[in-house]
Amino acid sequence: MKVFVSKRIPQEGINMLKEAGLEVFIPEHENLSHEEWLIHCQNNDAILSVGAEFKYDKDFFDQCPDIKTIALYSVGFDHVDIMEANRRNIPIGNTPDVLSKATSDVAFLLMQSVARRASYNFQKVKDGNWGDFDPLHALGQELYGKTLGILGLGRIGFEMAKKSRAAFDMKIIYHNRHRNEEAEQELNAAYVSFEELIAQSDVLSIHASFTPEQKDLFNGSVFEKMKSDAIFINTARGGFQNEKDLYEALTEKKIWGAGLDVTNPEPMSKESPLLELSNVCVLPHIGSATIEARTGMAKIAAENIIAFFKGEKIPYCANPEVYSGKN
Ligand code: DGY
Repeated sequence: MKVFVSKRIPQEGINMLKEAGLEVFIPEHENLSHEEWLIHCQNNDAILSVGAEFKYDKDFFDQCPDIKTIALYSVGFDHVDIMEANRRNIPIGNTPDVLSKATSDVAFLLMQSVARRASYNFQKVKDGNWGDFDPLHALGQELYGKTLGILGLGRIGFEMAKKSRAAFDMKIIYHNRHRNEEAEQELNAAYVSFEELIAQSDVLSIHASFTPEQKDLFNGSVFEKMKSDAIFINTARGGFQNEKDLYEALTEKKIWGAGLDVTNPEPMSKESPLLELSNVCVLPHIGSATIEARTGMAKIAAENIIAFFKGEKIPYCANPEVYSGKN
């Protein structure tokens, strides 16, 4: 069985695949064109898929009818047409859990960075503009006792809430498809409607998985209803925010600041007006970029593929409804 690993990943995952007797193909150069990528997909039985630049949509499945499984090197699977994979009975693996701490660390980092204007102040130092002590210039805000609103209180949201509560005694409110009883008991998190979430949060942090219906969920009319000193944090997917509206909300002081690890599109253009604002911090989608998380992701992705080829149930499956462990 041949596995196409679409970009280099930590060696532990590759070793696992080879030790399981699978033939591993890793392209020599990494910036594949769509055509090159498609040819590799057609020449292999499984894909260990790194990055989200190419979509797994109906066209893809039509053009690669022999692909048996796709193990994503990500927890998010918004670049896969899951209905289409279901129709063809193709299991899609993903990598939850191992990146929850790392990704929530980035949300926590952005929250503090925006609250204390860290990137603005760092830029001043780099520009040779340290400045004199000024009791009124570029003041931040403290987070102690404030309300953290979480959209999507799953594994990553839980970690963000836990840290924020421990560090700043923040009150946790959340909005989700389902109630999270563990968070309600352990973190005293309160379930609220979406309208209450946006109106009551001092910091609003997105940790939900993204679907096309949620595109531009955070638009002008939502920013309008948020507190004028609210901080907006997104480490989930850039599609949640309308960036033009976010820019207006920030410049018109409808909200206080924004910290983004995800943008729409990615990469963000260096011409984006958001980058000119002193109350914005943008990172280049580094949520899972730690040695520990990326190694864990490599191992899980390999585990998913190995399980499939052994005819076992995939341990981390984004569409478990279609697949019960027969290949
Ligand atoms: C994920 O795992 O979904 C991260 O956002 C990386 O794409």
